[in-house]
Amino acid sequence: MTHEDLGHLLVDAQRIAALPDDTRLDFIEAGECWIGYPRAEAILTRLHKVFVYGPNRVRPPNVLLVAPSNNGKSTLIERFRRDHDAPPDAGDDAEAEVMPVVVVQMPTEPTVSRFYAVLLDELGAPSIRRIGRGARKHDLERLALDILKSVGTRVLVIDELHNLLAGRRDDRLEFLNLLRYLGNALRIPIVGAGTRDAHFAIRTDPQLENRFEPLALPLWEPGAETATLIASFTASLPLRRPSPDLCRAGTLRGIIERTGGTIGEILTLMRAAAVIAIESGEEAITPATLEGAAYLGPDERRFRLEHDLPRSAAA
Ligand SMILES: Nc1ncnc2c1ncn2[C@@H]1O[C@H](COP(=O)(O)OP(=O)(O)O)[C@@H](O)[C@H]1O
Ligand SMILES: [Mg+2]
Repeated sequence: MTHEDLGHLLVDAQRIAALPDDTRLDFIEAGECWIGYPRAEAILTRLHKVFVYGPNRVRPPNVLLVAPSNNGKSTLIERFRRDHDAPPDAGDDAEAEVMPVVVVQMPTEPTVSRFYAVLLDELGAPSIRRIGRGARKHDLERLALDILKSVGTRVLVIDELHNLLAGRRDDRLEFLNLLRYLGNALRIPIVGAGTRDAHFAIRTDPQLENRFEPLALPLWEPGAETATLIASFTASLPLRRPSPDLCRAGTLRGIIERTGGTIGEILTLMRAAAVIAIESGEEAITPATLEGAAYLGPDERRFRLEHDLPRSAAA
């Protein structure tokens, strides 16, 4: 097979497409590559501006990235963090920024102490046990702030911010106060990411709500953007024939209906269809390989689970 035959693929995928089936299947299962799409690129551009111009302002700009679960928030944040990683030799220079972007997950038990514990962990601080079990919030806060300053953090990202809504109202208010305080004390932008519940949680404090610029990653719909996303993704899958039928309106509608329209589910379906395409020798994703794909969408999974659970367990 010549490389001209694989012109529908990206260069890396062309190389892999020439390899045996087992290797290609492994690649499809394991492959985690970034797919750029216009909304993600626009948000990354905005975050880059926040990173460059936000720190040291009297009121650093904050961002709230809102999207349904499985729709690409954490992947986008990881991309942002990597794009702004410190150069490898930064650690040698005492003044250098060694952790320009720090990402923490809002704990499922959303208290201020738990938050500082995960933040300190992310910063590589001595574990809470070594600081002392009786360490007061105040001590944890001092330590976290000192480290954030010393590693030159320019943006603090708090992912899974919707967990805040699950907490007690008092804890939530205390945490929102902390957000305000952190921004002021460090003079760095804060980026929150979460589902709509993150927005509801922030709204508990109207003043704080005004300080967060909302950016959304909406569900995917049958249309040109989704067709382009799917085309970009198929160009990275090592199949030996092109898959031109996927951009038809009916096919797109079927994909969105089945997956619920999140990027995570759409890519999972495409991967499952690519597996069938290799196993069947079809070598392209077609309506038939989509049909035959070993994939259950969120609705089907829920239905199966409810159906399979014995009544006693479901009760
Ligand atoms: N831009 C992207 N490129 C490639 N894969 C992506 C992209 N965005 C999301 N995904 C995939 O979709 C799935 C869900 O994404 P994730 O970022 O975890 O969603 P969320 O944080 O919104 O729940 C992950 O498996 C991830 O690999
Ligand atoms: Mg996530």
